[in-house]
Amino acid sequence: MGHLGGTKRIGVLTGGGDAPGLNAVIRAVTKTAVLEYGWSVLGFQDGFEGVIHDRWVELTLDSVRGILPRGGTMLGASNRCNPFAYAAPGDPEPRDYSATVLERLAQHGLDGLVVIGGDGTMTVAHRLHGLGVPLVGVPKTIDNDVRGTEVTFGFDTAVNTVTDAIDKLHTTAESHHRVMIVEVMGRTAGWIALHAGLAGGADVILIPELPFSLDQIRATIRRRQQLGRHFTIIVVAEGAAPAGGEAIYEQIGPLPYQRRYGGIGEWLRAQLAETIPQEVRCVVLGHLQRGGSPTARDRMLGSVMGAAAVDLIAAGTWGYMVGVSSDLAGHRPHAVIPVPLAEPSRGPRLVPVNHAVLRAAREMGIAFCDGAPKAE
Ligand code: F6P
Repeated sequence: MGHLGGTKRIGVLTGGGDAPGLNAVIRAVTKTAVLEYGWSVLGFQDGFEGVIHDRWVELTLDSVRGILPRGGTMLGASNRCNPFAYAAPGDPEPRDYSATVLERLAQHGLDGLVVIGGDGTMTVAHRLHGLGVPLVGVPKTIDNDVRGTEVTFGFDTAVNTVTDAIDKLHTTAESHHRVMIVEVMGRTAGWIALHAGLAGGADVILIPELPFSLDQIRATIRRRQQLGRHFTIIVVAEGAAPAGGEAIYEQIGPLPYQRRYGGIGEWLRAQLAETIPQEVRCVVLGHLQRGGSPTARDRMLGSVMGAAAVDLIAAGTWGYMVGVSSDLAGHRPHAVIPVPLAEPSRGPRLVPVNHAVLRAAREMGIAFCDGAPKAE
């Protein structure tokens, strides 16, 4: 499909779990389509479920008014709907609904579709594009683990929420001389744990990329004790695991990414409680990290990415997602780049072991308990 001129109609949907900033993208897609290009916009509800079951709303300048500060997504999301293997009510088992997606676009006269989602949704989008669906992607996740973009909206809000929790836990941990474990989200990537751990001044950060040693955690707690610091804050990513051990998750579907992580904090608490004199407690922040009003940075990022997605459609750049490259502090202007959807389909973007934030944390004495020296 070539350049889109004239009056056109596009669709938008939010797949996967929600993330703060989704409404900023929906608003930006709508405003850009209407104001810059003179197009109309239809929003499918609950991700691909809305496409399959034909649930949608008209998106207008009026309907997106006031949604910028709101968390979640005004369209609803679904992270259980893969149109290539979906069990609709009444289906005895999952079946392929990809042809329905094409039919639905034709039925509504849609010239293009904006698919907003994480790596799972981008993988689905890539396959649909291969079948001829004219679409572009906008990566989203609090986990910051989508390949092809250095940053996703939602991450900053989650990191701020976790940092605030670590600040609060510091005062009570110190008062009670406790070891406090904070389990955070992130699936197989340690971005949230690393960034919030550094920002919140954690003593130990455990991430999936660096298998940890229980002995080293105990030694760190003992060393702090000897220095007169009778409390320790440990941030553990939900996907972290001890060396030689497995991450703790529940497999909730046949695909590799259909895993529900959780439990490593409590496991760690039990292991430590048996072997150290201090009381050890665990806090699981869970979905608090996905909720709440997006930070200014996430609203800005969502707006930039939403507008860029419509520009991609206008240029007929099908099969790409909006990638953003950012410097560490985000002070330089963001560079927005089209990234082929094959890229996020290659699996999650993990924390490189030589990453600047990881190096800084090590150099400052934060323990990763992975056997590596403090600083390279
Ligand atoms: O991908 C975002 C995320 O919040 C992960 O950090 C977490 O493992 C997962 O989603 C939880 O998903 P659900 O809400 O479906 O349990």
